Amino acid sequence: MAQVVVVTGASAGIGRATVREFARRGAWVALLARGPDGLQAAAREVEAHGGRALAIPTDVADEAQVEAAAAQVEAELGPIDVWVNNAFAGIFSPFLEITPEEYRRVTDVTYMGQVHGTRAALKRMLPRDRGSIVLVGSALAYRGIPLQSAYCAAKHALQGFQDSVRAELIHAKSGVNLVMVQLPGVNTPQFDWVRAHIDGQPQPVGPVYQPEVAAEAIWFAAHSKRKEVVVGAPAMQAVVGDKLISGWLDRYLAKTAVEGQSGEPIAPGRPDNLFEPLPGDHGAHGRFGAGARTRSPMLWASRHRGPLAAAAALGGLLLAGGALARRR
Ligand SMILES: NC(=O)c1ccc[n+]([C@@H]2O[C@H](COP(=O)([O-])OP(=O)(O)OC[C@H]3O[C@@H](n4cnc5c(N)ncnc54)[C@H](OP(=O)(O)O)[C@@H]3O)[C@@H](O)[C@H]2O)c1
Repeated sequence: MAQVVVVTGASAGIGRATVREFARRGAWVALLARGPDGLQAAAREVEAHGGRALAIPTDVADEAQVEAAAAQVEAELGPIDVWVNNAFAGIFSPFLEITPEEYRRVTDVTYMGQVHGTRAALKRMLPRDRGSIVLVGSALAYRGIPLQSAYCAAKHALQGFQDSVRAELIHAKSGVNLVMVQLPGVNTPQFDWVRAHIDGQPQPVGPVYQPEVAAEAIWFAAHSKRKEVVVGAPAMQAVVGDKLISGWLDRYLAKTAVEGQSGEPIAPGRPDNLFEPLPGDHGAHGRFGAGARTRSPMLWASRHRGPLAAAAALGGLLLAGGALARRR
């Protein structure tokens, strides 16, 4: 029996790469996003791998639409095994230039969209006592950066949400896992369609990874019992750095990350996808592919941390044994 997987934000970027990752491993995939062109293209990719696809146009900010989509998936594909909360909307702007309506919209999609998805999945998984829910997070769930206050706040909120719900699941001795994946910068179409109140074209800060690296991490997280999977050294640096030198990072980012996130002059009338999807199939990749990393040694080490710890312990024992033998 094929695994039944729901991916939100399945039409483009990391969601699209995640759809491919699950489909190539034989899953049936329900695709939730708004734009029909990207949804149909993603469905064709699932079918090309021999799986069943179910494209459901959904705005994740609307709880009723998410709940209806979950019901349709279970009716047409069967019990949901994995739910990946990935959809997002953002805005690059100084805080005071974001209108209350824009700020609420980013929060409704990027934070509440994942809450709605978790609710719809958990309601169905809890009685069966099995299933996996993935929250797609970011290094920015730990470390806020300038020009992205609404997005960083939404990702921080998800971290607190996960702590609470995970503790409830453990208290209930539930077999359902809720895991969060903290991603580094990724080469996706987002930089071309996020809303922007800045003069330059939005661009990522620091090194970027290809979306396939993120998709692999999401697949791994969905099949683990872990709380968190951090992808890439830059994400780990942000997580640890914020704990140790948060105040210094405020000053460092003030110097580097305002101009650093703004590229060539922005085209007048540039469209964005904050309230409505853009037409066309935008695929998984953005325009920062040159130099984008295709592998994460840190993710590899995280995936193999059991054998690595055992090898390190064995190495330590051998060294200690050798030292003891020399003393004698
Ligand atoms: N790219 C990065 O640098 C990066 C770094 C760290 C974390 N992440 C995380 O990775 C996830 C995906 O990011 P991405 O870069 O792949 O984004 P993206 O390229 O902008 O793709 C966003 C996806 O979400 C969908 N979407 C947007 N608004 C929606 C709504 N209201 N309802 C349903 N679907 C909606 C979009 O499709 P439609 O427009 O067709 O609905 C699209 O499929 C996000 O959670 C993001 O926070 C990304």
